[in-house]
Amino acid sequence: MIYSKIAGTGRYLPERIMTNADLEKIVDTSDEWIRTRTGVERRHVATEDQLTSDLCVEAAKNAIEDAGITAEDIDLIVVGTTSPDLIFPNIATIIQEKLGIHGCPAFSIEAACTGFIYALTTTDKFIRAGETKCALVIGAEIITKLIDWTDRTTCVLFGDGAGAVIVKPADEPGIISTHLGADGKYKELLYYPVGVSKDLYKAGVGDSRIIMSGNEVFKVAVKTLGNVATIALEANGIDKDDLDWLIPHQANLRIIQATAKRLGLPMEKVIVTVQDHGNTSAASVPMALDVAVRDGRIKRGQLILMEAFGGGFTWGSVLMRF
Ligand code: UT7
Repeated sequence: MIYSKIAGTGRYLPERIMTNADLEKIVDTSDEWIRTRTGVERRHVATEDQLTSDLCVEAAKNAIEDAGITAEDIDLIVVGTTSPDLIFPNIATIIQEKLGIHGCPAFSIEAACTGFIYALTTTDKFIRAGETKCALVIGAEIITKLIDWTDRTTCVLFGDGAGAVIVKPADEPGIISTHLGADGKYKELLYYPVGVSKDLYKAGVGDSRIIMSGNEVFKVAVKTLGNVATIALEANGIDKDDLDWLIPHQANLRIIQATAKRLGLPMEKVIVTVQDHGNTSAASVPMALDVAVRDGRIKRGQLILMEAFGGGFTWGSVLMRF
């Protein structure tokens, strides 16, 4: 039996930091409101010239170094993102070129904030099928380029970044289980109204904005993230107390706390980075993983549940022994 295992992790955040105080100068908001309603204190924001693939390449280099491999070893690239450089070619091929490697399959997956979980799950199948020996999996976003900086209900929430992992085959898990889901009936609660076949030719830069019914999204997010975690634990006959760490999607501290409460999990076992990164969509889970691996909290052999929820809605989990 072939399993897949994370061999290395990495992340990259744009240098420019925007604090809540900076946002107070742009929109009618306050540090107090943002902190108490979302938990966000600061977020990294890409410059006009920075591309999502630039963030991905830096995160990938970190993960490659951590795994002790070279870029030439990579035989699959899968990227979860909603903010690729171009409509095509897909961003994974651009990253491949920037890493100086050629020939291996490279594709992207669009599942909003669940993009990394979808990408890692897909990669797990490639590895288990014996087709892939060394995969680069990335969750990345320059979501701030979709932001309307005059809309205080959304501009305070998001940030940019990239998280990467190297995944290799192993004789034992590694990844124990993956569960994905989606329900398109929730489209109207969270979406971006312009796309290739809808109004792209009409839209000028900055004419559109993320549409979100925050309250409604909040409620479904708490319920879904709780259910997703329970499904993963029950499917494997694992008690919540056996978990060493929960790494949830970092959208809002209150959502994270409510999810932990639903699960009966103490916050000491939950990795939280939303205060420093904001909601980085597909990048949030792999960056949180890398933060906790590098600061020594997450150790080899520990049992970790990663889960995410995002526009669509989409959702998913990966249970693994690190
Ligand atoms: O990545 C996955 C998708 N995203 C999410 O999971 C986000 C889910 N939703 C949320 O995190 C929260 O619903 C928000 C943080 C977006 C909003 O928090 P809330 O506690 O649900 O606030 P609200 O939308 O009910 O707004 C409360 C008040 C309103 O004023 P009134 O109508 O009570 O007078 C808003 O106009 O807060 C006002 N408000 C703000 N005030 C200061 C909304 N945004 C701001 C702001 N600063 N930035």
